[in-house]
Amino acid sequence: MSSRQWAAMMDGDESYAGSKSFYRFQTVVRDLTGLTEVIPTHQGRAAERILFATLVQPGQVVPNNTHFDTTRANIEYCGAEALDLVIPEGREPANRHPFKGNMDIAALERAIDQVGVRRVPFVMVTVTNNSGGGQPVSLENLKAVRALCDRHHLPLYLDACRFAENAYFIKLREAGYADWSVARIAREIFQQADGCTMSAKKDGLANIGGFLAMNDPDVAARCRNLLVLTEGFPTYGGLAGYDLETVATGLEEVLDEEYLRYRLRSTAYLAERAEAAGIPVVQPPGGHAVYLDARALLPHIPPSAYPAQSLCVALYRAGGVRGVEIGSVMFGKRAADGTETPAAMELVRLAIPRRTYTQSHIDYVGEVIALVAERKQQLRGYRIVEQAPWLRHFTARFQPLEP
Ligand SMILES: Cc1ncc(COP(=O)(O)O)c(C=O)c1O
Repeated sequence: MSSRQWAAMMDGDESYAGSKSFYRFQTVVRDLTGLTEVIPTHQGRAAERILFATLVQPGQVVPNNTHFDTTRANIEYCGAEALDLVIPEGREPANRHPFKGNMDIAALERAIDQVGVRRVPFVMVTVTNNSGGGQPVSLENLKAVRALCDRHHLPLYLDACRFAENAYFIKLREAGYADWSVARIAREIFQQADGCTMSAKKDGLANIGGFLAMNDPDVAARCRNLLVLTEGFPTYGGLAGYDLETVATGLEEVLDEEYLRYRLRSTAYLAERAEAAGIPVVQPPGGHAVYLDARALLPHIPPSAYPAQSLCVALYRAGGVRGVEIGSVMFGKRAADGTETPAAMELVRLAIPRRTYTQSHIDYVGEVIALVAERKQQLRGYRIVEQAPWLRHFTARFQPLEP
């Protein structure tokens, strides 16, 4: 966090109810999003759980460009189906489409018709699309989703974790927005939505925190009832007063275009290093992470033996570089019947902590990736020997397969 954020912590008001830190937090979130009801939560997944427990019924279907693992699991935990409808280019790692996070509008229309609008509680859009390579969604696409939701009288919620990076990509890539400030683009993004879930650990630039926000006061009242049950009083939602201060300050700082320029450029730099070492990565690079394409790098390991998990282990062993598998470990098990199907992609996400690394750190990561790629033929698949029923990738244990 920045020195301004650490300093803001000293100003935290720890009153149980009516903390002034909450009112500052609420003002910042309202100014940013235009959403009127602001509910603090300890993380993004708490916002998801509360929203879904309030709005989602068993047997329903929630469309999204791509659900992040926690959104998918929380929807499935409600007995509903999480449907990913990203454009086809979003599933092709090498494709350089500028907005690979876009929703497939025709597929969304078809899904709503097939499922029946009554079985769709709302539509979600994730900005940026983390499980799909950190790829942005264009405003044109978001407006098309909004129009479709309006036609069907469906609410639209954003998974807004990386709204600022998404806004900066729009400024750089979408016609008509080059002269807009990132703050204005961000407000335009939120204006398309009826509500959002947010992990402040991402573009809140904070160490902990999140929020749920919406315009509908009835939905908000029901969500607050759940909040009190499991998180805390509506003016702190499981956070300390000082956390509310750091998130409020972080949400202001993340709109700094110099910060965003550095963030996107340093991520692209690592992607260039990986490419130079002959390692296929998701193109174009996302804002917060580089995604190595393990399916392309390790064709000798089938999806059922988790090639991206194998690459994660090798990177950690070789250089202490800790990535995360975004492939068939994370998304291969169907919640409905427990069967395994290969995920759309087998990726290793190297998420880059903001404001932490210098160029030499990133060069080191590049060298470790190159070292592992040189001995890729020696990498073996894995099998799972222990797994939890939900979000198994967080705690699963693995055993290497014999050569
Ligand atoms: C797109 C997206 N949604 C939701 C979450 C969940 O947020 P949290 O880790 O704060 O629960 C994350 C976390 O990485 C995310 O990237």
